[in-house]
Amino acid sequence: MPVQPDFAAHKKALLDRLPEGEAVLLFGAPTRLRNGDAEHRYRPDSDVWWLTGWPDPEVAVFVAHGDTPVTMFVQPRDPTAETWTGRRAGPEGARARFGADAAFAYDRLEAELPRLLQGHTALHYAFGVDAEHDALLQASIHKAARSARRNGLDVPETFHAPSKLLHELRLFKLPDEVALLREAGRISAEAHVAAMRAGRPGAAEYEIESAIEHTFRRQGSEGPGYTSIVAAGDNANILHYIVNDCVVAEGDLVLVDAGCEVGHYTADITRTWPANGRFTPPQRRVYQAVLDAQLAAIAAVKPGATFMDVHDTAIRSLTTSMVALGLLEGEVDDLIASEAYKAWYMHGTSHWLGLDVHDVGTYARGGRSRVLEPGMVLTIEPGLYIPAASEDAPADLRGIGIRIEDDVLVTASGCEVLTADAPKTVEALEAVCARAARVA
Ligand code: GLY
Ligand code: MN
Ligand code: MN
Repeated sequence: MPVQPDFAAHKKALLDRLPEGEAVLLFGAPTRLRNGDAEHRYRPDSDVWWLTGWPDPEVAVFVAHGDTPVTMFVQPRDPTAETWTGRRAGPEGARARFGADAAFAYDRLEAELPRLLQGHTALHYAFGVDAEHDALLQASIHKAARSARRNGLDVPETFHAPSKLLHELRLFKLPDEVALLREAGRISAEAHVAAMRAGRPGAAEYEIESAIEHTFRRQGSEGPGYTSIVAAGDNANILHYIVNDCVVAEGDLVLVDAGCEVGHYTADITRTWPANGRFTPPQRRVYQAVLDAQLAAIAAVKPGATFMDVHDTAIRSLTTSMVALGLLEGEVDDLIASEAYKAWYMHGTSHWLGLDVHDVGTYARGGRSRVLEPGMVLTIEPGLYIPAASEDAPADLRGIGIRIEDDVLVTASGCEVLTADAPKTVEALEAVCARAARVA
């Protein structure tokens, strides 16, 4: 049985923060066809999962203070359907095992929602995600408003996006969530080491991908939290390279960006390493520049610093190195002000991490970058990308693409790197990639 989040703690956290008179309405994610009759494996909506752990489609969750704080609408038991698509817990299971205080079959939602909405002045709901859900809610509010003329009960007139309350809660990881992220980081780090061992010259990128995902699944992870990037040589300069169908050449660096989900919490790790076990001098200089920036950015993660402080730290370190490497000319301050560095480093340094790889939570408040607080988890992922066709780059640097990414928990005194098991110094990478050791 895979490790599970502490859903009771999440339910308590939401009820502790939900103001009286306000309610929350969540809908599950739909099933998705891949092609023909073949469905993607179902992945629950992250908000529904965070609150209930309900693993199946066709689910709605209504939360409000009262005798039955969590009401769930779920697929009912159905032996015929269960023969095809799997066992269902049904409303009884929702009450017994998924934290529901009341539960109905999903087809009761239309009849019950107007009643549930009554007595609440505000609703937290994600408009614009699903037109059918929006229409059902609007019709339910309309019905509730008609009843209100007779019974005088409030009907929601104020609507909040999930970012206001639910996503603020998800931004601050509880102890169970940190434990799951740590486990996802541990397994993912092991997968990166497996990739380094498999990724000798002559291996295909997909062989390396299979070593990674074998490691994920063998340990009970649900699988990748996002499509794994395995990019040899110049492919590393394509930020979202996921075809993974080339063969690693002698002298290539290999960039792997891969992380697994545990309890649906995902790691997000990038490592870049020499396929033949030795960095060339130019590769080593660029690698060290990215590593210096990454270590500086990690050191900047502490309560009181802002999200942008971390990015600015990486930018300053990388831009200084770009001048030293001959990628840019001029004063570092000017090159930062003019954003000249974006020629070689064009993405952000961090994003929040949790149930979604680009997790929920705002990055700014009142026009200012968000202040870091204990419990937040973010990635630190600087890079340098010098495509082979870059005529503006020194010839010996062309074709080098490097990113180094770790997952970092903000703590009371600074931060903890949750993915520290993945090697990243030049020496450690050369030791793991040493091909003689691979043969032995
Ligand atoms: N793997 C996705 C990202 O690094 O943002
Ligand atoms: Mn990332
Ligand atoms: Mn990544």
